[in-house]
Amino acid sequence: MGELNGRHVLLGITGGIAAYKAAELVRLLRRAGAEVQVVMTRAAGEFITPLTLQALSGRAVRQDFFDRADEAATGHIELARWADLVLVAPASADFMARLAHGMANDLLSTVCLATGAPIALAPAMNRGMWLNPATVANAGLLQQRGVLLWGPGEGEQACGETGPGRMLEPEALLERTKALLANGPLTGVRVLLTAGPTREPIDPVRFIGNRSSGKMGYALARAFTAAGAQVRLISGPVALATPADVDRVDVGTALEMEQAVLEHVDDCDLFVACAAVADYRPAQVAGSKIKKNRDRLELTLTRNPDILAGVAARPRPPFTVGFAAETESVVEQAQEKRRLKGIDMIAANLVGAGQGGFEGDENALTVLWEGGREDLPLDKKEQLAKSLTAIITERYYAKKNPTQDA
Ligand code: PMT
Repeated sequence: MGELNGRHVLLGITGGIAAYKAAELVRLLRRAGAEVQVVMTRAAGEFITPLTLQALSGRAVRQDFFDRADEAATGHIELARWADLVLVAPASADFMARLAHGMANDLLSTVCLATGAPIALAPAMNRGMWLNPATVANAGLLQQRGVLLWGPGEGEQACGETGPGRMLEPEALLERTKALLANGPLTGVRVLLTAGPTREPIDPVRFIGNRSSGKMGYALARAFTAAGAQVRLISGPVALATPADVDRVDVGTALEMEQAVLEHVDDCDLFVACAAVADYRPAQVAGSKIKKNRDRLELTLTRNPDILAGVAARPRPPFTVGFAAETESVVEQAQEKRRLKGIDMIAANLVGAGQGGFEGDENALTVLWEGGREDLPLDKKEQLAKSLTAIITERYYAKKNPTQDA
């Protein structure tokens, strides 16, 4: 079994003399067990033939955004979802500039914009082009957004000059791919995650609850585990099986959930609050079943603690991600919640509209952070969880190592 068995690498090839090395990279990735889908820019086709790459990858090479057969089912989105990693090798100065400016004027740049998978670039260009302030600024911008820059190396260049700008050798790119994918980008990261509803007892048989099924949170637990994280799941009452390799702690009420979170929060790097926690609980819980001998029954409710805000206010908080369930002005209210709770990110969803949100298998999210936003349209919660995990991973590392050259 290869170390990359079953992993999907979308290999983007842009126009540059180093494109010939992509053939060897495809061979090495395949030998390590990865499935490789090549997407070439038009310029790349001037340096290496699609036929070579097709033969080595065992898959039809994709080149054209306007391919009728492939785009009939929005093929670029399928490619973006298929990838566990988008590796662009070689990445030309032009491609980096287009990516830095969010352009989507060919298939490869469109896939890069749409994907939730990590993106790694192996720059290859003349030293003057690499050192040009425009390229330096584009590289910095891309890194800030979590794009990984693998290389370039230094040495003799095809143009006869010597300096930085050589594409890393295929073996080095394979090693970096293995380090990223074989273990997952969140290897060694401890995630504390809340999911499901809370139940606030009125008497021994009744409670105040909500419609959360736990599906979104449990899908996230699976996505974080698949990304290599160590996941502890604080779960309200749900009818779902515990995801593999997840440490699950069951709770009933908001106060129990808070207690469990406080017990484990110092052992986590990332806190994700997906639970629908009751904001209020009955001030008094009747000791025995309340009888129906009264025409009117009044309950006095008292505020529950805000678990998420409490975690974010700790002296050395983990990276904090909240959810916002809103029935109107979703983005505005979520932004306000993010600010008030002092958290790093928030994933907002519309609830109570019959589509997405509570209970069903599908949802749509708008993810917000300081200076950034990403919309994840209606999709299976399982898929959304993967996309959200990729965004969280990117932001987590961007905050941790703001100037990291991965
Ligand atoms: O479980 P499913 O059926 O799959 O549905 C998924 C979901 C709709 C429950 C989920 O996507 C979601 O939106 N979860 C958060 C629901 C919620 O309580 O949102 P809120 O806007 O009321 O709370 C904002 C944030 O503060 C949430 O991260 C919540 O976990 C947290 N919170 C709220 C109150 C409280 N006392 N303590 C908290 O930590």
